[in-house]
This record gives sequence, C-alpha cells and structure tokens, in this order.
Amino acid sequence: MSFDVTRVRAAYPALAEGHLHFDGAAGTQPAAGVVEAVTGAMRHAVGNRSAAFAPGRRSLEIVAAARAAVADLLGVAPDGVVLGPSATALTYTLARTLGDTWRPGDEVVVSRLDHDANVRPWVRAAERAGATVRWAEFDPATGELPTGQYADLVGERTRLVAVTAASNAVGTMPDVAAIARLAHAAGALVCVDGVHAVPHGPTDVPALGADFFVTSAYKWSGPHLAALVADPARWAALRPDKLRPSSDAVPDRFEYGTPSFPLLAGLTAAVEHLAGLDPAAPGDRRTRVRAGLAAARAHEQVVFDRLLAGLAALPGVTVLPAPAGRCPTVSFRLAGLTPAETATALGEAGICLSHGDYYAYEYFQALGLREHGGAVRASVYHYNTVEEVDRLLAELDRLAAGGWRMTG
Ligand SMILES: Cc1ncc(COP(=O)(O)O)c(C=O)c1O
Repeated sequence: MSFDVTRVRAAYPALAEGHLHFDGAAGTQPAAGVVEAVTGAMRHAVGNRSAAFAPGRRSLEIVAAARAAVADLLGVAPDGVVLGPSATALTYTLARTLGDTWRPGDEVVVSRLDHDANVRPWVRAAERAGATVRWAEFDPATGELPTGQYADLVGERTRLVAVTAASNAVGTMPDVAAIARLAHAAGALVCVDGVHAVPHGPTDVPALGADFFVTSAYKWSGPHLAALVADPARWAALRPDKLRPSSDAVPDRFEYGTPSFPLLAGLTAAVEHLAGLDPAAPGDRRTRVRAGLAAARAHEQVVFDRLLAGLAALPGVTVLPAPAGRCPTVSFRLAGLTPAETATALGEAGICLSHGDYYAYEYFQALGLREHGGAVRASVYHYNTVEEVDRLLAELDRLAAGGWRMTG
C-alpha cells in the first residue's frame, strides 16, 4: 500500500489558494482530472442524447461511463446506477415512489443519527401513506447507534429501514450489515445513506446488505452530482412519476430531465482519481479504487488520530462522543464561544470548518444543542496533513485562551 500526500495534494488545483480544508464532510475540492473532464466536455461538441449523430453519441457515452464508474466505486451493476443532482433529490424520488406502495398501518424505521436527507423524505412519504414512523435512537454517551434496538423496531409491517453508513456529525459507522439482516428477515427494504462513508474507505454495497444506497460525488473530489444504486431487478419493479415521452428503461426512468453531461464526465474523472490514489495498486478499476481508498483511509487515520489527541489535550474543548472505527470526523465546542464564532474566527485564519447542525437535525435536536448553535465540525480528507492539524490546534489554543472576541 502506498500513499504520497504531497503527490496527492498536487492533484488539487484549489489547494494552491492556501486554505486549510477541514470541511470535506460538507464538500471536498475537485481533483484536477475532474476540472479537465468538465471543461473538456464543454469545449467539445456534446449534443443531447441521440444515436443519430456523433455529438449526441458522446453524451450517451458520457452517461454510460458515469454509470460504469459508480458501479466500480460501489461494487454494483452499472444498470442499477441512477444519477441525479443530489442525494437529497434522489432520496425524495425513491421515497415518493416506494411510498406510493405503502398502506395505512405499514411502518418505516428511521434513525436520529442520520442526516435529514435520509429522514425527512421517509417521514413525509409515511405521512402521505398513513404509515407509522419508528425511530432508532443513538446513545448520547457513546455516539453509537445500537443494533439491538432494531430487533424491536422492525416487525412484519415494516416496509423500509433507512440508516446511515456513517454519521456526518461524529463519524459513527453503525453496523449496517447486521441492521439489514434484521430488516430483511422481516421482509423490509433497506436504504443506506453512504454520502459520508464512501469518501473514507472501500465500499461494497452488496456486502452491506443495502437494497438502496446513495452517494454524492462532491464528497469524493467530484462535481455536485449524486447516484442512488440498487439491483436493476429492484428498479424494474418500481414505477416512479415520470413524463410520458421520457425513457421507460431502467435505470433511466428514475432520472428527471436532461442531465449535466459535463458534470457527469467530471464524476467519472473523480472515480479515476480515487483509483489513482495508490499508484502501486494493480488490477482493474474496481480493484484500484478499493486499494486507493484503503490507502487514503490509512493516511486519514494518522491525521485524524493526531487531531483527536490534540483536541483532548486542549482546555475548553468539549468533543461530542463517537465510538472507535468511526469515519475521520469530529464535532466539538469551544468554551466561551458559540460554534458560529469559533468557525468565523478560524475562517479569519484561513481554516475552513463547518458549524451548526450540518443537517444532522435529529442528532442535534436530541442532544438539545440545536438551539445553542450546534457544534463545530472538523473532518479529515485524504488531502489533509498532520501539519495542517497542528495549525488548527494552535489556532484553537489561541482562541481558547481568549485570543478572539466578537466585533460589532
Ligand atoms: C450523510 C449525508 N447524507 C446526505 C447528504 C445530502 O447530500 P446532498 O447534498 O447530495 O443532497 C449529506 C450532505 O452533507 C450528508 O453529509
């Protein structure tokens, strides 16, 4: 396994601006190959999809290549890859479509650890169908989402279990495979939010037991696009709302309107970038993507361990708990400053961190922290370094010592 962070950083043009990006959980910077692919698809003739002329065939190829790239990233069939503008939009489409088949008395299980994109679409679909929503709770003392509760939550009326592969607030990675086994034993489907997990290690959707799995390319060096994947046979059994003349084929019928062909070309380039993270890795693209993300994970872990140790040693920092084996994401608060003040002060020093609830609405609501500004989040991505962590920690130390006051 090899990972050269200096080489990897050189593949991100935006890093030359000098900001410290601990905001990868909110969106990563695009890799150079992505920028080239997007502009390349705009510089050359690309028509709307048509087999009749060459520029039309180019857009057909771009779409097919994007499906193949996501398939390699996640270990699924290209024909099961539905592409769309965002994880939120795709999950709403799926929830509407599945919800149309639900009846009063049916049940849906969502979790309070999830980003709202894997909660509210299901809650709304359940309301429309007269179905009951049941809630999986996280343990506030540990940040875990205990698997055992699903044995009680899931029953013969359960139609769907929605759960995250990783919390975007604290990085907790629930035991999705075990939860899926419980759900499947009751005949329920499982929708897994992979948005936060996919950038941080190899993903094998069939091994997770996910019937549906969503990922967003802008969290892994790509453009603002997303993919929702399932077995093609599963898609074939579903009837989404659609326009009369639009394709009724699978997976096309779940995609609305004319897609952004340049961004789709960028999505493919992002997967190529991930496949090149470990230049020594041999094999086909799926194998190299797995190797690249495994190498990136090992690097991220070193950087993240330094961050966690540094935060633990800083006076005035309260870290929100999460179990070992988490994604490299941590939320914390600094005594004497609101999360917004902390993030703004860091921003003035060129250090980028998210603050608030980052749409992990139920999580912060359950902790009673939403009305107190949520928290500040530092997420490590493979282009971060231990030197950057040390700069962040030094700045936090300065702030904790009262080195910043709100002005105005
Ligand atoms: C865990 C998680 N799920 C879903 C989303 C929503 O993704 P999108 O912006 O593609 O709708 C995010 C975005 O931050 C996220 O972190």
